[in-house]
Order: sequence, then C-alpha cells, then structure tokens
Amino acid sequence: MDAIVRDGSRLNEVLLVRLDPNELDETTRPRAAEGIVAYSAICSHAGCPVTAWIKASEGNDDVFKCMCHNSEYDPRRGAQVVFGPAPRRLAALPLVIKDGVLVIAAPFIGKVGGQQG
Ligand code: FES
Repeated sequence: MDAIVRDGSRLNEVLLVRLDPNELDETTRPRAAEGIVAYSAICSHAGCPVTAWIKASEGNDDVFKCMCHNSEYDPRRGAQVVFGPAPRRLAALPLVIKDGVLVIAAPFIGKVGGQQG
C-alpha cells in the first residue's frame, strides 16, 4: 500500500486488541480481522497517549482509557467515547489478514490527534 510514513511520530502509535467478533457493532466488524481491531493511541481530548485497558467507569466491559483526564473509549463500538471529556472517538485503522499475516487494510478513518492539533 502506498502511504505517507511519518517515521518516529507519536501519531503512529496504535492500540490493538482482540475481541469476540460477536461483540463488535456493524461499523466495527468490517474493520476487524478475526476480532482484532486497531485504533490510534492518541486521545482526542488533549492528545495524551491512551495507555490503559481497564473496566469501564460505567458498565462491566473493559475499555481503553486515557489516564490524563479519564476519557474512555469502547473498541467494540468504533472506539466511541463512553466516559470523560474526549470530544470524539479514536481514529480507526482497518485491518485484514492476508496470507496469514495481519496487515493494515486502509488509512485511518477519522482524525488522528488531540483537539489542538
Ligand atoms: S488527553 Fe485524554 S482525556 Fe484528556
């Protein structure tokens, strides 16, 4: 795939998690490869790295959490914001398994980075 690679940029950081494909919503399932989903690791609030995988503040599912101001994102539902001040979901990185190898299927869907940049 032809793409611009910003070598060394923290904006390249991604979160990967394998989930039960049956838990993924209609938007998320086509972007997943055997239940594996990928998202930008840069919080949409102020751009901190999203580093935690913990039980949601509301509900029982595990979610991605940014520890800077406690925003939470549900990877089963396109990483939509389920808690905290983040203004929008994490950018999604579609995946596919090709010849037994996990590869990126398309560029990020959505904006990578925090509110300011
Ligand atoms: S930067 Fe992530 S919640 Fe504020």
